[in-house]
Amino acid sequence: CEVTVSAKKGRVFSGIRPTGRAHLGNYLGAIKNYVALQDEYECLYCIVDLHALTTLEDTSELRQNTYEMALDLLAAGIRPQETILFVQSHVPQVTELHLLLSMVTPLGKLTDLPTFKDKARQQPHNVNYGLVGYPVLMAADIILYKTSVVPVGIDQAPHLEFTREVVRSFNYRYRTDVLIEPQMKTTEFPKVIGIDGKEKMSKSLDNHIEIAATPEETRQRVMMMVTDPARIRRTDPGNPDVCNVFSLHKVFSGAEEVETINVECRRAGIGCVECKQRFAENLNRALEPFRARRAELAAQPDFVYATLEDGAKRARAIAEKTMEEVRAAAQLP
Ligand code: TRP
Repeated sequence: CEVTVSAKKGRVFSGIRPTGRAHLGNYLGAIKNYVALQDEYECLYCIVDLHALTTLEDTSELRQNTYEMALDLLAAGIRPQETILFVQSHVPQVTELHLLLSMVTPLGKLTDLPTFKDKARQQPHNVNYGLVGYPVLMAADIILYKTSVVPVGIDQAPHLEFTREVVRSFNYRYRTDVLIEPQMKTTEFPKVIGIDGKEKMSKSLDNHIEIAATPEETRQRVMMMVTDPARIRRTDPGNPDVCNVFSLHKVFSGAEEVETINVECRRAGIGCVECKQRFAENLNRALEPFRARRAELAAQPDFVYATLEDGAKRARAIAEKTMEEVRAAAQLP
């Protein structure tokens, strides 16, 4: 069945940082949802290389990491015929809108944001102007494409609220209604815990499992996963409710097997080693089609680059139209 753009409910936009190969947290928290939204919405997905610059001092891997993320997105099921997949810096209009939005943004609002304070604490030697403006650039991303829905993790809620405020401020200041307030759509799987069983899965903490890893690498990482910390011996009963491996079984294993593990773990019928072996097997099986598609795409880099170019061209057309309205609203001569 063919879905035409006009039959869709509205426009979705989301940005993903070019952190290189995606991990399970990226996949469950964002990418899986991106793929599903294509059925109902007209979608734009952007690899935000400019946002990456706010924290990167060494950019030697930025190009490769952007490409790897594009491969993961395409292999996961982003359909570039209908969906616009592109790289943020390929649409320079976003930097112009960023500047215009900055004029209606009180500085204190930015420095008060918890996300800014965290970053400033993490990189005290590099609290740069761009870092303060991170949410303004994100707002520009969203606004530029007249986005109605933004799928993001709950950690991005303050940025979405900021975006809505900046829309209102701009429209009020210039007595216009060209900018549209977006709605936030939180992902069902808000936080994926890493193999340490404690922190949010992330590459920087090295507690991640790459979705493009080989089955053997995947197995090794899974076997390192921390389970219920109170279960020390094989004969101790476990508590699946606090076990990260169990929470992922619920995503990648069949309902029957999940129920068996739930029951057997609680009465020490199954140990953590076997539970993890089973999880690794199911995870590898689930990722097999993705990995095959990824290998196919990796064999034709020209196609991937052409896809990003095409996406940028389509994105620029929308962006320029919005900017014409925005410039007129601000009465730029
Ligand atoms: N700030 C987002 C993150 O850290 C990435 C991002 C940039 C984004 N621009 C966006 C997300 C626009 C949604 C919409 O994950």
